[in-house]
Amino acid sequence: MAAQNRFTAHLIAWQKTAGRHDLPWQKTQDPYRIWLSEIMLQQTQVSTVIPYYARFLASFPDVLALAAAPIELVIEHWAGLGYYARARNLHRCAQQIATVHAGKFPETEAQLEELPGIGRSTAAAIAAFAFGRRAAILDGNVKRVLCRQFGIAGFPGAKAVHDRLWLLAESLLPENDIEVYTQGLMDLGATLCTRSRPRCGDCPVADGCVAKRDGRQGELPEAKPRAAVPERTSTFVLLTDGQRLLLERRPPSGLWGGLLVPPEGEPAAVAARFGLALGETTKLPPFKHVFTHFRLTLEPVLCRIDARFQAAEPGLEWVDIERAADAGVPAPIKKLIRQVASARG
Ligand code: ADE
Repeated sequence: MAAQNRFTAHLIAWQKTAGRHDLPWQKTQDPYRIWLSEIMLQQTQVSTVIPYYARFLASFPDVLALAAAPIELVIEHWAGLGYYARARNLHRCAQQIATVHAGKFPETEAQLEELPGIGRSTAAAIAAFAFGRRAAILDGNVKRVLCRQFGIAGFPGAKAVHDRLWLLAESLLPENDIEVYTQGLMDLGATLCTRSRPRCGDCPVADGCVAKRDGRQGELPEAKPRAAVPERTSTFVLLTDGQRLLLERRPPSGLWGGLLVPPEGEPAAVAARFGLALGETTKLPPFKHVFTHFRLTLEPVLCRIDARFQAAEPGLEWVDIERAADAGVPAPIKKLIRQVASARG
């Protein structure tokens, strides 16, 4: 048997004996009930979904009941599940089925995918479970299973890897038992082939698994490549009369919003901006600070200015050097001020 056929056959046999069979949406072929479960399960785990699913069906027993309901009531039933776009799309989808499809769910994955909130994988799941169609699913769990089983390198979100996974998912489909196979893939991903600590000892397809063979379960699927963190360099002018620092209050929004910071810019530009006469200037050692989205190299310059300087504009404040570090300044500035303060002895 080819590796791919073996995977499919073992998964089907395993699902029949060891898979999940008592989930509320497995007791039906009603596309409405299957669709609702698939939407709820998109970003939410089974145990959370179950009570919501029951309440939802009690209030909206079929697609026409849902289509006729006010959106506020639908949202109310969704409250706590999160990702509320799902609830709005669910309602819009029900209305489209009522008006465009005369209240009946379309049966092909292509038609299902046209509906709001139904992507390619969800369309395939509904088509397989409700209508027995040979359609491939590929959600996050399935991607993990396939990447490990077939040793697929690269980040699954990258276009080339994603395309390859879809082709692979389609090539694995069985001739028969599509519902069992589809549920088996979901069950394997949710219960054994988990992201951390997969239970390979119980896995029906461990024999053919590339990740297991090579001990790479922890590396597959590959993580999203980290974007290079942008680098910025900025000069900060520590203006001092020997006792005090002249700090500037930053605008409320943006980096360090509302905090006190030494004026940013080249000393000459800062001097011009505030109408200052600079005395002796000393470059201090530059240092780096890492933000979430960029790395900043701070190049501090210490400048003497006249103690009698009074700012013409608001926003500048004289702060005693000894207490400036605790005057509501950002962390890297605090560090810098402490160095300046201790250098004074
Ligand atoms: N996750 C997505 N669809 C599912 C299903 N039908 N059963 C269990 N988990 C799922």
